[in-house]
Amino acid sequence: MVTQDSPFLANSFPRIRKRRTRRTPYLRALVQENQLTASDLILPVFVQEGSGLKTAIPTMPNTYRFSIDTLLQECELIVAAGIPAIALFPYIDVKLRTEMAEEAYNPDGLIQRTVSAVKAAFPQLGVITDVALDPYTSHGQDGILGKDGHLINDQTIEILARQALSHAEAGADIVAPSDMMDGRIGYIRDRLEKNGNDMVAILSYAAKYASHYYGPFRDAVGSASLLGKADKKTYQMDPANGDEAILECMMDVAEGADMLMIKPGLPYLDIVYRVRQACQLPVFVYQVSGEYAMMQNAISQGILPESALIETMLSFKRAGASAILTYSALNIAQQLQDL
Ligand code: PBG
Repeated sequence: MVTQDSPFLANSFPRIRKRRTRRTPYLRALVQENQLTASDLILPVFVQEGSGLKTAIPTMPNTYRFSIDTLLQECELIVAAGIPAIALFPYIDVKLRTEMAEEAYNPDGLIQRTVSAVKAAFPQLGVITDVALDPYTSHGQDGILGKDGHLINDQTIEILARQALSHAEAGADIVAPSDMMDGRIGYIRDRLEKNGNDMVAILSYAAKYASHYYGPFRDAVGSASLLGKADKKTYQMDPANGDEAILECMMDVAEGADMLMIKPGLPYLDIVYRVRQACQLPVFVYQVSGEYAMMQNAISQGILPESALIETMLSFKRAGASAILTYSALNIAQQLQDL
């Protein structure tokens, strides 16, 4: 390897002129180290009860809550754009939100019915489900709340295992625990194995930070007002920590995760890179709602061009991400087609 103090570099110019390989589009294409394609993208989508609905989410411009029928129409576009998978998030009626989140594992629940409907109509489209209780609890936290105000870890993971199994039985290809309880990957893996779902993969939100960038998502799933001023710092990671993310990921590898997720995206690019180096599993990254809202607002005000989205996606690929969850997936796939 050429290092900075090598004699070779000391009198390199003009023998080495890096601009030679930047001169034309074909040269740039030949030396390009990373490529972005639609097959790198996963579109997160919000679903709600009802029919014929496509409800705007004010804090997430150009993103909607779909009813199952309108989601199926949207899936036509998603498949046509070459996007391999969607990640489902529910907006649950407030009346169904309880202390124990029973609705999370209702076999006839909104998500379970959505999974069956999407898989029946588009068997080739990957369906990823969110395994977490925040859309189902009356307090908007991701688990069962104890008297001391902390989530009860081991009681919560039992509910998560029931939820994951109900998603698998509805036909989900990948279940994605996003709650940050300890031990849930192994617990869910065992539950799936014992019930004949050995081919359902687990995408673990292994390093998920207690982030301000989730705000618009909490509006979309209706948990913001239930949470009030509460935060998730007793289970999601401290933004100040990096080494801890590596340990979180290694534990989930050992417990049987198939893929690891880092979340949020751009503010945690160092974590994507470090986890890619340290763990031999595919690393996914989530460009979350707050990141999305910042970009959309800048684009709609003419401050940034839409192609800035492509640049951001390339940064994820360069850091080592195998796939990117982004609310801009359709827009990006369309931009790639026009290139
Ligand atoms: C919760 C969950 C959150 C997101 C995905 N799953 C929010 C949170 O932890 O409060 C955020 C995604 C986004 O902001 O786009 N299980």
